Amino acid sequence: MGKPLTTLLLFSCVLFSLCASSFAQTCRSYTGFSNNNVYSSCQDLPVLNSYLHWNYDQSTSKVDIAYRVTRTSSSRWISWALNPTGQGMVGAQALVAFQNTSGVMRAYTSPVPNYQISTLTEGSLSFAVSNLSATFENGNEMFIFATLTLNSSMTTVNQVWQEGPLNGNAPSSHDTTSSSNNLRSTGTVNFLDVTATAPSS
Ligand code: HEM
Ligand SMILES: *[C@@H]1O[C@H](CO)[C@@H](O)[C@H](O)[C@H]1NC(C)=O
Ligand SMILES: *[C@@H]1O[C@H](CO)[C@@H](O)[C@H](O)[C@H]1NC(C)=O
Ligand SMILES: *[C@@H]1O[C@H](CO)[C@@H](O)[C@H](O)[C@H]1NC(C)=O
Repeated sequence: MGKPLTTLLLFSCVLFSLCASSFAQTCRSYTGFSNNNVYSSCQDLPVLNSYLHWNYDQSTSKVDIAYRVTRTSSSRWISWALNPTGQGMVGAQALVAFQNTSGVMRAYTSPVPNYQISTLTEGSLSFAVSNLSATFENGNEMFIFATLTLNSSMTTVNQVWQEGPLNGNAPSSHDTTSSSNNLRSTGTVNFLDVTATAPSS
């Protein structure tokens, strides 16, 4: 291989890796949560620009979570859920947030009973949720903060996450086309894994 070609190749590689690393933002490098919490563990979720951060306290089985979605907008809803009884949407014990028509962030809990729902109705979950709040920051990032009081055996749990459009003050269906990442937003989380950063699925 001639020298100019090698140089060009090398240059392209450097340029490519620079670009790639600036896009593949990892949760590890994110600090400065607006609630001032510091989370020791996190996971880069594989789709939908989503990141889960947490602190798990084994003595109480409480987990403080921060769910962050980047590249979204104030006209979308976001949701993160544990599913203690299955792997997909049905059975999801969801935390939901969106900016309502008053311009205020609303955060609430919603159990997802089946695929026939048309919106996400508020209701209590199979575990206790406290400290629930949400923020919209930097013009395109949305966060959900909460403390979950889990059953002590729930340390490795199925999780699902989602985002979709709003119809006034009600979330409406997310993309359900088979090729969409919205049907791939499932995985597991191990709350005991303090070094977690990798995608879960
Ligand atoms: C307005 C609320 C919602 C509606 C109308 C809705 C509707 C649906 C439908 C019809 C499907 C099946 C699509 C198919 O397989 O052809 C689906 C799949 C899915 N939904 Fe939802 N959904 C809603 C909320 C949520 C929420 C809150 C989550 C998670 C936090 C979620 C996560 C998923 C996931 C991961 C799948 C693909 C895996 C599976 O089929 O279980 N959805 N949704
Ligand atoms: C928006 O959410 C806030 C906080 O939950 C609530 O007080 C307010 O009534 C909501 N506005 C509308 C239009 O639903
Ligand atoms: C609320 O969150 C803080 C820290 O994030 C935690 O120390 C506290 O125990 C939580 N309160 C409840 C009632 O869960
Ligand atoms: C925890 O959840 C598991 C599975 O749902 C259940 O079998 C068990 O009885 C629960 N344990 C407690 C302490 O609630």
